[in-house]
Amino acid sequence: MPDARGSSGRPRRGDRKLSGDRAGAALKVLQITDLHLRDDARPLIGVNTEATLIEVLDQAFASFTPDVVLATGDIAHDATLPTYLRFLQIIEQYHHGPKLCVPGNHDLIGPMIAARLPIDPLRVGNWVFVGLDSHVDDEVGSQVSDRDIAELVAACPPIGEKRHTLVATHHPPLEVNCPWLDKDRIQNASDLLESLARQTTVKGLVFGHAHQAVEGQSNGIGLFGTPSTCFQFEPESERFAIGDEQPGYRWLHLYDDGRIDSAVERVACSFEIDLTQRD
Ligand SMILES: [Fe+2]
Repeated sequence: MPDARGSSGRPRRGDRKLSGDRAGAALKVLQITDLHLRDDARPLIGVNTEATLIEVLDQAFASFTPDVVLATGDIAHDATLPTYLRFLQIIEQYHHGPKLCVPGNHDLIGPMIAARLPIDPLRVGNWVFVGLDSHVDDEVGSQVSDRDIAELVAACPPIGEKRHTLVATHHPPLEVNCPWLDKDRIQNASDLLESLARQTTVKGLVFGHAHQAVEGQSNGIGLFGTPSTCFQFEPESERFAIGDEQPGYRWLHLYDDGRIDSAVERVACSFEIDLTQRD
């Protein structure tokens, strides 16, 4: 079973800092998630989501130059073609290299494809990046079928090849200890992770949706949940609640031997939550 709990019984949070710079020989990856961009300037619960995305990207790219950028869903809050085109316009001001996007529950696959968001697997160095589409248009919950798992396994290098895989998806594959969010996690995550561990070289899986930092592992596969680039959800809350943590991003260093180092960074942004602006 996926395991996100430390000895205290609580999920481990992902804000761990690494000591020393061991990134010299590593592939550097930036994960951003839950951008909730709008097709106009209206704030979402008091947050200008485009402004916080830009602040997050400013800080991330000032800190390091990623080889790969992963956007793990809820890229749009208003899932229209102009929103996705605006996303590409923003990201390409920072990064011209490989990118991989997966849809979240607020996204619609039609306009994502129309905008030509990059959704195909990538190979960079000794690493392969594969997206798993866990969303269903116009539904909050996830759906990952046996066929989806089989196609994902087929897209990953098999055991025996000297390559490693990082999977990107939207919905959490484990409980994050927020019941109102946990009901929408990937329900057959055990099947998914056991299949990946058995047949592939998958070393990690990054996800979003939870708007908070979470780390866990299953069958030797590292599980990395990442804060939103806009507002956060309150950790360990029974019901919907906005947290007071800042927007953030995750960096990952992927090594030739399959090791992954990763941590979350927070970005100081100024906004006042206004729950009357929820649509
Ligand atoms: Fe989200």
